[in-house]
Amino acid sequence: MYDFDVGQGSKAELYGDLLKAIDAITADEPDGVANMANAAALLWQYLPDLNWAGFYRMVGGELVLGPFQGKAACIRIPVGRGVCGTAAATATTQLVEDVHAFPGHIACDAASRSELVVPVVRDGAVIAVVDLDSPEPARFDAADASGCEAIAALLARRI
Ligand code: SME
Repeated sequence: MYDFDVGQGSKAELYGDLLKAIDAITADEPDGVANMANAAALLWQYLPDLNWAGFYRMVGGELVLGPFQGKAACIRIPVGRGVCGTAAATATTQLVEDVHAFPGHIACDAASRSELVVPVVRDGAVIAVVDLDSPEPARFDAADASGCEAIAALLARRI
């Protein structure tokens, strides 16, 4: 049983502990699917107010659903479409306070109101995105973005 000590204080403390936990659980495992699965589980367990947490992987030039927690989701997303496809196309974090106002947002779960998508970049190429969805409007802020960017940077060589 894994029992990580993940703080419930400030967001900086929470993400610092979460990064350590994801580092610890992926450090000795070469299988990328196993590492994405555990990372998705930890994000889901420790980040409050989410309805989806997981990965889309770049496969054959499009995003394909990877390990996640939450409701069953759309399987393939073209690069450039929706929040995930925009993050992949631009290699930049997408922080969306109101998904209804985002052109082309893909609604996998009608409950989603805000979304954070962070690209995972290895050797200059987007190899995956981390996607977090929330039923609360404006759930994510700059601290969530930088926390998830640190996690994505760690995972770039582990998935
Ligand atoms: N909303 C995303 C699609 C993925 S689901 O939220 C899991 C998008 O617009 O890219």
